[in-house]
Amino acid sequence: MKKRVSPMASLFFISALAAAFHSSSEAAASSQSPFEDNFSIMWSENHFKTSEDGNTWFLSLDKETGCGFQTKQRYRFGWFSMKLKLVGGDSAGVVTAYYMCSENGAGPERDELDFEFLGNRTGQPYLIQTNVYKNGVGGREMRHMLWFDPTEEFHSYSILWNDHQIVFFVDRVPIRVFKNNGEKNYFFPNEKPMYLFSSIWNADDWATRGGLEKTDWKKAPFVSSYKDFSVDGCQWEDPYPACVSATTKKWWDQYQAWHLTDSQKMDFAWVQRNLVIYDYCKDTDRYPKLPVECSLSPWG
Ligand SMILES: *[C@@H]1O[C@H](CO)[C@@H](O)[C@H](O)[C@H]1NC(C)=O
Ligand SMILES: *[C@@H]1O[C@H](CO)[C@@H](O)[C@H](O)[C@H]1NC(C)=O
Repeated sequence: MKKRVSPMASLFFISALAAAFHSSSEAAASSQSPFEDNFSIMWSENHFKTSEDGNTWFLSLDKETGCGFQTKQRYRFGWFSMKLKLVGGDSAGVVTAYYMCSENGAGPERDELDFEFLGNRTGQPYLIQTNVYKNGVGGREMRHMLWFDPTEEFHSYSILWNDHQIVFFVDRVPIRVFKNNGEKNYFFPNEKPMYLFSSIWNADDWATRGGLEKTDWKKAPFVSSYKDFSVDGCQWEDPYPACVSATTKKWWDQYQAWHLTDSQKMDFAWVQRNLVIYDYCKDTDRYPKLPVECSLSPWG
């Protein structure tokens, strides 16, 4: 199509050019800031920072507030991973949560997969707590010790999620396997797509030695760091979600990803023997009749 250029049109052209220039410089800025491509801040913008190159992110907690971010997209099934370095020194009472959730509030119907890092007094080990919620019901905690100090370096924390199992990994070592039973049930979240979140907050009413150890605000701000977010999964799109059914085209949905591999089984056995502090499936004081998912073998 040929265009005749009227004075009005050329004026329009100039302003369009200016707009295009402006938006392309914005696009360039955003591609230099990997954070904004995929995440937004949930609360307290001023407690969030990035490194100069934009690749490392910092969340801080002080007496006033914590901070949190979330992905812009939701996903259903896949491999979700990120590297975290936790608050060092005396971090009693501080919780860093890294989790997937179907909602951005704590709605009563939410599905959720949690990693929570419970801070501790200087020199005492961090614990990592995991939990699984379906339709707002959790209470499926496990707690583990780690085999390293998570405040010294970045380590990767990942979730494999498909219709058969949810596996929590630390540096590619499976620390927890949560199985589906292949039937309609009340324990295995597999229908709702989830966002990925992270946040840092004060939980000195319960986090460290059941709330006995209080947050020492003289040590604030408490800062946790993040980098290398990666997702190899199905990105949800409304109104015709691409990920409604599992496909055999994607590795995370395929047979090999329905079970641990042989070498993962060896790592998992080592974790089971050495690092488990708490397992709700063994807590018969709390659950005189153990929940049905507790009878599913992680080895299958
Ligand atoms: C991150 O954002 C980019 C740009 O919007 C997008 O192409 C990509 O799919 C996103 N990655 C994930 C894992 O959602
Ligand atoms: C903190 O350290 C103490 C002493 O090693 C330990 O008993 C406790 O389980 C640790 N973690 C938490 C979250 O309290």
